[in-house]
Amino acid sequence: MKHLFLIGFMGSGKSTLAPLLSKKLEIPYLCTDLMIEKKEKKSIAAIFSSHQEEYFRQIEKEVLEEICILKNPYIIDCGGGLPVFNPLSSLGIVIFLDIDFDVLMSRMSLEQIKKRPLFQNYENAYKLYQQRKGIYLEQADIVIDASLKTDEIAEIIQQRLKSKN
Ligand code: S3P
Repeated sequence: MKHLFLIGFMGSGKSTLAPLLSKKLEIPYLCTDLMIEKKEKKSIAAIFSSHQEEYFRQIEKEVLEEICILKNPYIIDCGGGLPVFNPLSSLGIVIFLDIDFDVLMSRMSLEQIKKRPLFQNYENAYKLYQQRKGIYLEQADIVIDASLKTDEIAEIIQQRLKSKN
């Protein structure tokens, strides 16, 4: 069994899915953003406001390296940019939560937007979404319609994983 990497754009539902999937598959989970915040003792927003994005990406890379040396499998809730800067295909099973930009926008609260420094401007966020979609698809072993309910998504992932074995 390998790590299961949950990837997708900000707001696609990775952090909601991770604990539920973890319970269902009985595999513990980690969140790269939480690991970064713990390491830096700062929120993601504070890291971006006191450093360049490059600094954040460096810490993100270090966190991924820490994950890669873990012997037991984990579900990894990846920050939206992580697979863009760190190809994941050789590191585990990659699950892409695919969602339309408008659906994603309609689901995100102002509070959730505030926490995400790269989501402050609609046009820029949409551009980023368009640039990244192909990168996510390229790395994905499993693509899931993320507009479905979280328990349905978890069920589909469990079935797809079974059919892969
Ligand atoms: C980012 C996504 C965020 C977080 C950081 C950068 C990105 O994680 O890592 O704000 O580049 O897409 P979520 O995808 O969990 O929001």
